[in-house]
Amino acid sequence: MEHKLFYPNKELSANAAVKNMNEYNKLQNFAKNDYEGFWDSFAKDKITWKKPYTKGLDDSNMPFAKWFEGGELNVSEQCIDRHLEKNGEKTAILFEGELGDIQKITYNELSRRVNKTANLLKNRYGITKGDRVVIYMPMIPEAAYMMLACARIGAIHSIVFGGFSSDAIRDRIMNAKAKLVITADGAYRKGKPYMLKPAVDEALAKGGCDSIEKVLIVKRNNQEMTLVDGRDEIYNDLIDSMSEDNEAEVMQSEDPLFLLYTSGSTGKPKGVQHNTAGYILWAQMTMEWVFDIKPADIYWCTADVGWITGHTYIVYGPLAAGATTVMYEGIPLFPDAGRWWKMIQDHKITQFYTAPTAIRMLHKIGDDEPKKYDLSSLRILGTVGEPINPEAWDWYHNKIGGGTCPIVDTWWQTETGGHMISPLPGATPIQAGCATLPIPGIMAEVIDEDGTPTPVGEKGLLCITRPWPSMIRGVWGDPERFKKSYFGDCKKDGKPVYFSGDGAMVDEKGYITITGRTDDVMNVSGHRIGSAEVEASIGNADFVAESAVISQPHDVKGESLTAFVILNLHDHGAYEDMAKEINKIIRTEVGAFSMCDRFIFVPGLPKTRSGKIMRRILRLIATDEEITQDISTLEDPSVVKAIIEATKEQS
Ligand code: WT7
Repeated sequence: MEHKLFYPNKELSANAAVKNMNEYNKLQNFAKNDYEGFWDSFAKDKITWKKPYTKGLDDSNMPFAKWFEGGELNVSEQCIDRHLEKNGEKTAILFEGELGDIQKITYNELSRRVNKTANLLKNRYGITKGDRVVIYMPMIPEAAYMMLACARIGAIHSIVFGGFSSDAIRDRIMNAKAKLVITADGAYRKGKPYMLKPAVDEALAKGGCDSIEKVLIVKRNNQEMTLVDGRDEIYNDLIDSMSEDNEAEVMQSEDPLFLLYTSGSTGKPKGVQHNTAGYILWAQMTMEWVFDIKPADIYWCTADVGWITGHTYIVYGPLAAGATTVMYEGIPLFPDAGRWWKMIQDHKITQFYTAPTAIRMLHKIGDDEPKKYDLSSLRILGTVGEPINPEAWDWYHNKIGGGTCPIVDTWWQTETGGHMISPLPGATPIQAGCATLPIPGIMAEVIDEDGTPTPVGEKGLLCITRPWPSMIRGVWGDPERFKKSYFGDCKKDGKPVYFSGDGAMVDEKGYITITGRTDDVMNVSGHRIGSAEVEASIGNADFVAESAVISQPHDVKGESLTAFVILNLHDHGAYEDMAKEINKIIRTEVGAFSMCDRFIFVPGLPKTRSGKIMRRILRLIATDEEITQDISTLEDPSVVKAIIEATKEQS
């Protein structure tokens, strides 16, 4: 199929870090020919080192790569202190509350707040280098202060997305043996106050969180809450008396910076570990290369700090690049579907980065909202988290981007720390729905298990065949799981390489199109959900014997969850009631975003003789497609017919 290409405009190219494909190719060839030299050429200048590193890359003990060893730095200084002399009065964080309240926090102000917070954590709570701190916060500037304060004193933060349940908080506290939880009373959503703190209370009340000594609470919505004596303290009461001076901890390049838990195809979420120097280098470089960040820009990423996109592209990347980063508290539909477009107009946003699911929703609900606003400040649009369909792309491109802004379709993962495959807006001819080419320095390849490149136009496995600076450094507390999860499937030249879990296809131009996960990980509204995790939760309903969760296409969410459930009793209530009951359990054990849209109660599941559920067959049944594949290898082929009948009956 011929795809239309959109070429970069001249003005953008002229001022971009990478100006054309020639330059792109030169950079990528540099990396291919002299990998360490390539990274060294950026790392030595882009980072303000306290002490220069002595070795670029140490890959002698793969998959445990080490970058920039011997180097010393502090991420909070990279994000704040080094900007103060020239840009102290520049807005670092431009916050807008859902009710319309605005805060412009300059770099000077950010420095004071982060230093005070660092002093509080260190002096009052005794948090020191290497301690883990769980952060469960809404989208308010204090969330960024907490992250940066942890970085400043060398504590390892582990943010739990505000949509997660108390069980999820508890699991993460226990896995990381965190010493402190930082939360807020709550915030505003859909125009009303909502609460977060009760979920922390619940998590701690369930027991097992003995590592937690204190809970620090930021007041945002000033709603009433119960405080536990001797455990809970209010940030706002303590922070003013703290000193504005704080000497940043000296961090080694490979000291851990943060953990972020993410779902895989098996078991409980994994604590993805990112370390100091490599992560911050790539966060900053991709801001320059992919978003073309310039001093006067007002950059907005609509993600939540609870996800990796919020870590790298709301807080660390933009601040390391000395940019103005916009942070919004609420939902895109309050008070109406024009909220985001109004914000782009009001703040003269230049780069706008969001998820395809949001674009689809806003297109559907507010097709003519964008034209009420002046969106001419926009220079670059971005998408992340899932493939973007042509219809959503066209609307985004024409109605938001005025038909002229390049759209950077950025492919990456929690584990990659930053962008891996994306157009560079001044150089790469863009193709709708395609992440295009690896960013210079990134060796992304579509191969088979043995490392043979997949022929043009055929599906293969998306691997990164050399370690990169912002690569996951480990799964917290479980090196074996790290090896098995990421380096167990693919080899190149006989050596294990990083496999993303995604399938992809390469075209004649070398452009990479992501075809979706090859494992049991699902993607609902850009949220990553492991089937094992949801199934474990469904299994906790006492009337459930077994279940299998799959995703099926959804026109707004991208995918939605369908659960096939086997009951363990004959005398059961109405299907509808059981479905509700199960979703209630999922909501408390995982989070509301993992609830299933559809339940099909079945007498059995299609299993191979070795007991593996063939989810492919369930996907076909759910979407009413014909099963053409051979099912004779199933333990009990007749079960398929029974599932089809049950599905028809219940739809
Ligand atoms: C998975 C990673 C990266 C931050 C947000 C999600 C899917 C990500 C794209 C894209 C198609 C994409 C992949 C990937 N994904 N970006 N541009 N096109 N699919 O981070 O929760 O770690 O999920 O999201 O399947 O493996 P995450």
